[in-house]
Amino acid sequence: MAQRAAIVTGASSGIGLAIAEVLGEEGYSLTVAARRPEKLEQAVQGLKDKGYEVESVAGALGDEEGVKAVVAAHRERYGRLDVLVNNAGVGIGAPVAEIDTKKLDMQLGVNLRSIILFYRETVDLLRAAAKDQGTALVVNTASISGKRGQPWLSVYSATKGAVVTFTEAMHKELSGEGIKSTALCPGFVDTPMTEFVKGQVPAEQMITPGDIGEAVRLLLKVSPACIIPEIQFIRPGD
Ligand SMILES: NC(=O)c1ccc[n+]([C@@H]2O[C@H](COP(=O)([O-])OP(=O)(O)OC[C@H]3O[C@@H](n4cnc5c(N)ncnc54)[C@H](OP(=O)(O)O)[C@@H]3O)[C@@H](O)[C@H]2O)c1
Repeated sequence: MAQRAAIVTGASSGIGLAIAEVLGEEGYSLTVAARRPEKLEQAVQGLKDKGYEVESVAGALGDEEGVKAVVAAHRERYGRLDVLVNNAGVGIGAPVAEIDTKKLDMQLGVNLRSIILFYRETVDLLRAAAKDQGTALVVNTASISGKRGQPWLSVYSATKGAVVTFTEAMHKELSGEGIKSTALCPGFVDTPMTEFVKGQVPAEQMITPGDIGEAVRLLLKVSPACIIPEIQFIRPGD
């Protein structure tokens, strides 16, 4: 059995990859998951080159089967789960009259439904880790648009607002057993997801993926009685 192990979804680029790197540095064995296999394998190679132990599972995480496949592979390889990072997400903008049902369901699926299913499928492992080590940690990547609804990104905002409240509910339901939950709420981060806005907000004026990774390092290090339910990351003037 691994000494400490983590799952990171959406780890093929951006914020998820930065968090996976921090977890690798901190000695966690990793299972990383994302949708497109070739892109995920490139990220996995980079993590392995740094000497980290990595399992990978490619697939759509809006589907229950996709979530179950990640958890099964992780359970089989490592037999324990200390940190779960629910980070995979997608944002598709549209004015309300033009919301496409398929794109609505895709955002609900990966941004929200998968997080609920990951908790359900892993809570036994998280409980065992908390019993063994005193704590286990779940980090959910929400967004600042889950705190303040955004026009055009209304569906995305609604899914991220639900991530914030689901995280709070999990905190209240599970923290007494040592399972901590934290919602991350960033503004614009320099990742592939924000390519659409880099004409107006230059990449160098955005939050970096490494900033989010360092926040997760803090969450790993605080004492068992210290819970950080939410972190907002905003840019100057926002
Ligand atoms: N960048 C920002 O400004 C910002 C701000 C606030 C919150 N966030 C949130 O941060 C998280 C990470 O985003 P990012 O900015 O790092 O963007 P990113 O680099 O595009 O990463 C998104 C990750 O999620 C995966 N993913 C997307 N849809 C998926 C699906 N259906 N099934 C499985 N994996 C899927 C992607 O894999 P593929 O590339 O293969 O699809 C990729 O690994 C998201 O939840 C996003 O909403 C981002």
